[in-house]
Amino acid sequence: MEQENIPVQGAEAPAGQEAAVPAGQGAAKQKHGFSSKLGFVLAAAGSAVGLGNLWRFPYLAAKYGGGIFLLCYVLLAVTFGFSLLVLEIAIGRKTGKGIIGAFAALNKKFKWMGFVCLVVPVIIVPYYCVIGGWVVKYMWAFLVGDSALLGAAADSSAYFSSFIANAWQPILFFLIFAGVTVAVVVFGVQKGIERVSKILMPLLAAVSVFLAIYACCQPGAAEGLKKLFIPNFSDFTYETLLAALGQLFYSMSLAMGIMITYGSYMKKEANIQSSARQISVCDTLFAIFAAMIIIPSIFSATGGGAAAEDAMAQSGPSLMFVVLPQVFDGMAGGRIIGTVFFLLVFFAALTSSISLVEAVVAVLRENCGMKRGPACLIVLGIMLALGILSSLGFGVLDMVQLGGKSILDMFDYAANSVLMPLVAIGTCVLAGFFTDTESLLDEIGMRRKGYRMYFKVMIRYIAPLCMAAILISGIVNPL
Ligand code: PFF
Repeated sequence: MEQENIPVQGAEAPAGQEAAVPAGQGAAKQKHGFSSKLGFVLAAAGSAVGLGNLWRFPYLAAKYGGGIFLLCYVLLAVTFGFSLLVLEIAIGRKTGKGIIGAFAALNKKFKWMGFVCLVVPVIIVPYYCVIGGWVVKYMWAFLVGDSALLGAAADSSAYFSSFIANAWQPILFFLIFAGVTVAVVVFGVQKGIERVSKILMPLLAAVSVFLAIYACCQPGAAEGLKKLFIPNFSDFTYETLLAALGQLFYSMSLAMGIMITYGSYMKKEANIQSSARQISVCDTLFAIFAAMIIIPSIFSATGGGAAAEDAMAQSGPSLMFVVLPQVFDGMAGGRIIGTVFFLLVFFAALTSSISLVEAVVAVLRENCGMKRGPACLIVLGIMLALGILSSLGFGVLDMVQLGGKSILDMFDYAANSVLMPLVAIGTCVLAGFFTDTESLLDEIGMRRKGYRMYFKVMIRYIAPLCMAAILISGIVNPL
């Protein structure tokens, strides 16, 4: 078993300087990172809080029994999720490198894993921006009061289908979303990512608290709140656990190289454990607030009972783009609420897509010696090619299907169900067996013997087993 020495990160580069890092150069004096722990936490939380929290968590919670799903999710977040999060941040900070350099620094023989990991954000960011574009379109439709979506004569289901099948409209909104994402990344870690996160995250918190309070005050909302918060243990199945596990993984932006990249920008003196705790709390709270907006609103609009359960069983894009517009439309002040809600989703998705782009840009700068501007242009080029393809998959290219999956769904499946669990298993095995695990634990700042033991058991055995279960179910289910 070969143990490689992990290079120690050098001094921070002075603020304001962000030169390209020549290929093959060591970690020392690598980059100009986040200015403070708060900047790091807000940017990492911004990455974690995204479409996963606002669109995926509420429908999964509704589908898998509400309270019992929430309980499983929270228990897994403080054990499995937290461990993987601190591990990725520690790998980034210890090595001071982006995805490829970090894996190679842990053990040269595992450099190839960096390339596999790099594929994840490369695949995800184009289609994530396509969905981001849909969000922009809906924000616009609510703002101008589009009568095809809102009002008595509107049919939200037909509206959504005809919008995504349109040849140019989704591409236009995709371009807007992708353009804003890349524009932020061009400004760099402090002036772009950190600054935007510092503005958007508090705004996001204020808007989601406001919307949650509003939704919970609607008549009939209490039944929805009960469903969300009171666990019914008879609803528990193995699938509840698996769904909670998969969601956690998705929601915390694990196994896509983001936390490694952001970790490499983190100051040496910042505490990894307390940062990870704040990121996880923030991510979980946003998921709960999103569920508190969506589930009570649906219970209120449908009158509760079986009708509410049916509406919520409509999983996937239809919940956010078909059911919710109807729900908001029926509320007092619904047009404003809808606009604000989609603005919230827009901000959340933006901070996540920024982190996906940065993970790839960091590799181009570090391994190809590129400057930030050209690196951003290359990533934009990839996003345009794959994003336009994903977007056309619902209209012009709708005959391109695999196992009933559209192009966008295929990318999503390849990344989330196959590559991400594989990368996560690889990361744990590498960190647990094939590198100097003790020095990683020192980087995390774990001092107590019992805690170090627990962490090692978690990353060596428990986490890889959990992820193998996600991988197997992801592959077996579609068959
Ligand atoms: N964690 C973010 C979210 O929950 O939306 C970012 C993200 C996760 C993007 C997983 C894409 C993805 F497949």
